[in-house]
Amino acid sequence: MAFKSIAIGSDHAGYDLKAKLVEELRSSGYEVLDCGTGDATNSVDYPDFGKAVAEAVTSGKVDGGVVVCGTGIGISIAANRHPGIRAALCHDITTARLCREHNDANVLALGARLVGEVVAKDCLDAFLTTEFAGDRHVRRVEKLG
Ligand code: RB5
Repeated sequence: MAFKSIAIGSDHAGYDLKAKLVEELRSSGYEVLDCGTGDATNSVDYPDFGKAVAEAVTSGKVDGGVVVCGTGIGISIAANRHPGIRAALCHDITTARLCREHNDANVLALGARLVGEVVAKDCLDAFLTTEFAGDRHVRRVEKLG
């Protein structure tokens, strides 16, 4: 398995989906570091939570991360500003599988206002259980570094 521990963070728009994903991760046996935010009512800034998750991953505290905002765009941009982070914004199982196989993505980004709970959980499962395919993709991923 690629990941055993996961940091997860969202802004207010992603809070409800984050809470469901935290529950899902814990019940599947993953160690979860919840980086906030703590509720859906107070408006907060997605870069703060993208940064918290990115730092948890790059410091080695956790194996991978999940970030959620309204569209997934802002928080994925925020996470990707950190060297060593490959955050992939996914909308379906296929993108979630391929971001692992081809890009060795270490952070899954989701848009809570765009994907429903079932699709989000499918993406999470594909992200967590798919291994990097290696081979020709190693050279390409190294060039991202
Ligand atoms: C918050 O309203 C919204 O802008 C944010 O969650 C996200 O979609 C930004 O990319």
